[in-house]
Amino acid sequence: MKDAHRKLIDQMTLEEKASLMSGANFWNSKGIDRLGIPSMMLTDGPHGLRKQGGSADHLGLNQSLPATCFPTAATLANSWDPHLGYEVGQALGVEAKAEGVSVLLGPGLNIKRNPLAGRNFEYFSEDPLLAGKMAAALIRGIQSEGVGASMKHYAVNSQEKHRMSIDEVVDERALHETYLEGFRIAVQEGNPYTVMSSYNKVNGDYTNENQPLMDILRNEWGFDGLVVTDWGGNNDRVAGLLAGNALEMPSTGGITDAEIVVAVQDGSLDEAVLDARVAEVLELIDRTAAANPALADLSDVNPDFDGHHDLAVRAAEEGVVLLKNGPAQNPTLPLRRGSCVAVIGDFADDLRIQGAGSSRVNPTRTESPLDALSAAGLNVAGFAQGFKRHGGRSDALRKQAVELASRAETTIVFIGLDESLEAEAADRPHMRIPREQLRLLHDLLAAGHKPIVILVGGSPMELPFADHVDAILAGYLPGQGGASAIANVLVGAVNPSGKLAETYPVVYEDVPSAPTYGNTEAASYHDESIYIGYRYFDKVGGRVRFPFGHGLSYTTFEYSNLQVDAEGVSVTVTNTGTRPGTEVVQVYIGPPETTDFVAPQQLAGFARVTLEAGESASVRIDFSEHAFSVFDVNTGKWRQRKGRYTALVGASSRDIRLEGTVNVDGEEFDLNYDRDVLPRYFSGEVKGIGTSEFAHLLGRTPPPEFWDRSLPITRDSILAQLVGRGGIAGLCGGAITGIGSILHAVGKPMLANNMNFALDMPLRTLPRLSGGAFSESALDDLINVLNGRLPKGNRAASKEAGKTE
Ligand code: BGC
Repeated sequence: MKDAHRKLIDQMTLEEKASLMSGANFWNSKGIDRLGIPSMMLTDGPHGLRKQGGSADHLGLNQSLPATCFPTAATLANSWDPHLGYEVGQALGVEAKAEGVSVLLGPGLNIKRNPLAGRNFEYFSEDPLLAGKMAAALIRGIQSEGVGASMKHYAVNSQEKHRMSIDEVVDERALHETYLEGFRIAVQEGNPYTVMSSYNKVNGDYTNENQPLMDILRNEWGFDGLVVTDWGGNNDRVAGLLAGNALEMPSTGGITDAEIVVAVQDGSLDEAVLDARVAEVLELIDRTAAANPALADLSDVNPDFDGHHDLAVRAAEEGVVLLKNGPAQNPTLPLRRGSCVAVIGDFADDLRIQGAGSSRVNPTRTESPLDALSAAGLNVAGFAQGFKRHGGRSDALRKQAVELASRAETTIVFIGLDESLEAEAADRPHMRIPREQLRLLHDLLAAGHKPIVILVGGSPMELPFADHVDAILAGYLPGQGGASAIANVLVGAVNPSGKLAETYPVVYEDVPSAPTYGNTEAASYHDESIYIGYRYFDKVGGRVRFPFGHGLSYTTFEYSNLQVDAEGVSVTVTNTGTRPGTEVVQVYIGPPETTDFVAPQQLAGFARVTLEAGESASVRIDFSEHAFSVFDVNTGKWRQRKGRYTALVGASSRDIRLEGTVNVDGEEFDLNYDRDVLPRYFSGEVKGIGTSEFAHLLGRTPPPEFWDRSLPITRDSILAQLVGRGGIAGLCGGAITGIGSILHAVGKPMLANNMNFALDMPLRTLPRLSGGAFSESALDDLINVLNGRLPKGNRAASKEAGKTE
């Protein structure tokens, strides 16, 4: 602890120390005036500032100040361009600083375990190396402006359903190699000032009081900043402090501060632990002083919003992915300027540029694709809505669209996911594009048109039409510059270079976690272990619609002269086409002979190279730190395995152009997996693997996946646990789900999503989030009533009941 902090802390009363451990309100920490300790503002979010001037919320309901809306992480990751990530981070930092925001709550970098996860659009990749490198760059960019970043959500936020209570059960090896590796890279290469713990439990404990997770963060990775809870994500305040979580957000009206005071007084919390957490708050204030209006004059900080808009356009141009461009001899794209185009689809007029929830930004500018297509030089014959994104069947709209298509040379159709399908607090119900949009496509194809399809949405979709159209461009959620970016790519003003940061499965059922994902209540078994995304599909030789790393260009690249050494590869890349372009060169490592189960290849490095037509360049790519290592659960350490590895270099995970081998020094060891006991982990056929083999891998019996409804409701129960019970509890649960259904029925899917949020709230959050307006004793009364007792049963009884669950 710094001397200056020690001195300050020594002047604080116990109550003052405790007061610094939670928010003053929704977005600010507390200060202590008499000691000159200012408060800090912490606000969203990952791809644009969401500073609310008026009413505060963490669902993106109330409008925030205008800010540049950059592409969401899913889009940015397709650039495979950490330098771009840094630039975007820097712009976010300036906009945050100008508003006196000390900490920007992002980036989010959880691993995309399953394509339906509600926040996938906010996360980078299914691969930890790509996610970690992009996040580290963003963090460095944000913090270059003196604003703190908050790497979130640590860790394993794999689903939104029951996110505030679900126990994410993961074997130690998958935990380290898959779910934590990106966070490690982001900590060690980005040095974030803060980390936000996730709402969920990991292997039995809430993350913010999860000692193993906190030990990894601080002791193994050297994190020296402050851990903040997710909003309303505190469970046991004292356990959180002991584990290393300092700040609880938002305000709890002092309820949990008082718990800290009592804990110190009764000896269950050593005051030295509290002092250490207070010092972390003071350190954060120091580190972010340049952005704190109480400590710095910010009147001269004027973000260049025009420049940031241009950066948002460039970021989107790098983030969109050309998935398909046929026919081979005469590709559809780019379109000739002056081409007469019919523009179809609800999203073509009003593009979806971002997802819903706490990351929602109020953009400084909005662009319509229709205008952008004209501005890019296309002759727009007209626009037809084709479908209503939140509406039902409309034969008339489809008919108009087909008529319009017959009046143009080329048809461009914007289809994809609507706002309600990609939102925080709700996972997607399926991987399909809404039926009415598919009908539209069907009608166009049946009438002989071959539309260019622009996909709108931040995660993979089933594309049953893929073989029947010539061109597909994944626009993702491109931020406020998205319309220009898409138009520029369509006309070839920009040569696309984005590559998928995730696999596009053919159908959802092909995904390894599909059989159980989102279908359980209390625990979610990550029983596919290390086989996430391409690691699974490659292991079983499974079909995919578009592989990880895939993305086309208007030019072609040839790879030659591969040289592999122990540190990395050198390869010559030549632009063999007729226009300048950028290639993302990817290096995968195949394992040596081993008696352990392993993925057939894993990303170990990548680089972007921009080349004029005919130009060649030698590209050097160093191997990542853990390219030759596995996490050994027996020693609890990463270990580099000696052996002869394969280096696979190419344009996607399934477009490997060159291969070489490399002998790597290291240890000779065995993870002691028993092939007879874990046959499906060895074959990779992990889909629907069942509890018994997973339990062997885990080394213990996993906790029950479903709630035991015979147990009483407790403070830790979530509202969803009331559903399906008898008595008053069942009535209350039924009422909440009923409101959700009504909202869906009346075309208010976004509000209905917020009912999910309510259903996933543990009862203990009621007093805290209401700042005490709903008192602890009222909560006890409520729990008694829900359990069919008289309201005035005592608190001890409801607490006691909690222990049995
Ligand atoms: C989200 C966080 C966000 C916070 C504040 C939570 O619901 O999970 O990502 O930063 O709200 O809005």
